[in-house]
Amino acid sequence: MNCHNFVPMNNDSSRRQFASDNYSGICPEAWQALQEANRGHVRSYGDDHYTARAADLIRELFETNCEVFFVFNGTAANSLALASLCQSYHSILCSDIAHVETDECGAPEFFSNGTKVLLLPAFDGKIQPDDIERVVKKRTDIHFPKPSALSITQATEVGTVYTVNELNAIGKKCRELDQKLHMDGARFANAVATLNLPPKQITWQAGVDVLCFGGTKNGLAVGEAVVFFNSELAREFDYRCKQGGQLASKMRFLSAPWVGLLQEGAWLRHAKHANAMARRLEQALRPLSNIEIPHPVQTNVVFARIPHEAVQGMYRRGWKFYTHVGSADEARLMCSWDTTETDVDAFAADLRELVSKT
Ligand SMILES: Cc1ncc(COP(=O)(O)O)c(C=O)c1O
Repeated sequence: MNCHNFVPMNNDSSRRQFASDNYSGICPEAWQALQEANRGHVRSYGDDHYTARAADLIRELFETNCEVFFVFNGTAANSLALASLCQSYHSILCSDIAHVETDECGAPEFFSNGTKVLLLPAFDGKIQPDDIERVVKKRTDIHFPKPSALSITQATEVGTVYTVNELNAIGKKCRELDQKLHMDGARFANAVATLNLPPKQITWQAGVDVLCFGGTKNGLAVGEAVVFFNSELAREFDYRCKQGGQLASKMRFLSAPWVGLLQEGAWLRHAKHANAMARRLEQALRPLSNIEIPHPVQTNVVFARIPHEAVQGMYRRGWKFYTHVGSADEARLMCSWDTTETDVDAFAADLRELVSKT
């Protein structure tokens, strides 16, 4: 498979890396829940008590009676959720660095039968309310695909977080302009860990219609929850999931790990830990004069402009990280629920040594 441009190195899989929070394994709480679910025969296709319990825990977490669906990955969650907000002649607004635009291979357009994606500029990963208005009002004639939904990412693709005031302003603008609001929450847990607010305040109370709540990066093997706060929009979503190949027949193995993650707060503990590791990494890199950190470090990622020779040196030492995600010269250093202080310190020590020679 040729999908990412880091230099392939040794096969030392015992070393934790900074390439992606998808590199991490399954957290103990999810693993235990999976094992417990692996008993006997249980009803299929989501008609089981693990799935019911996981959905109830999500309703408790958000303190509302939302509709919950479990799917395999973020691309499916985002695409199917967006398709439920739009007709094919509509358009979806998102930032020009949104995962739905840059990393989903056109799936939002595909699953919505061709809804066009329109791009807004991102400032530290975030969309501004004025830009929403500008694009929605730019054309209102019959020849233009009618804007119908806005997609924002929380935490953003560069690891920043929309504040509650920013979300309220976006939600208000969406209501004024008759736009549905979708939130890509692949790293929603990391955003909650930073904001330290009840999840309801940064979702449905701010006007979010549907959240794709990420489990994979938070410690699951696989799986995201599509959470509809506007239940009218969830109508027949189960059919969309089935048609899109996202209805797990042995659903308990997708949903039970959510129970493990949610029932005693592991989701937030893991996110707080990953965020703390990114802060530690930032503190180690900030003093290095030839490294620049272009975005505020607010969740579990540090973007860093590192001299090319030092990047190559780090690759030769067996470190893996991406340099294709942000701007051309930026390394994305991603921490996970299982990143340790020792990992961070070892990475920083190697980098310190290499940049001192550049
Ligand atoms: C912002 C964002 N959204 C969604 C996803 C989910 O993508 P996938 O389809 O790989 O699960 C990711 C994963 O990298 C992401 O970073």
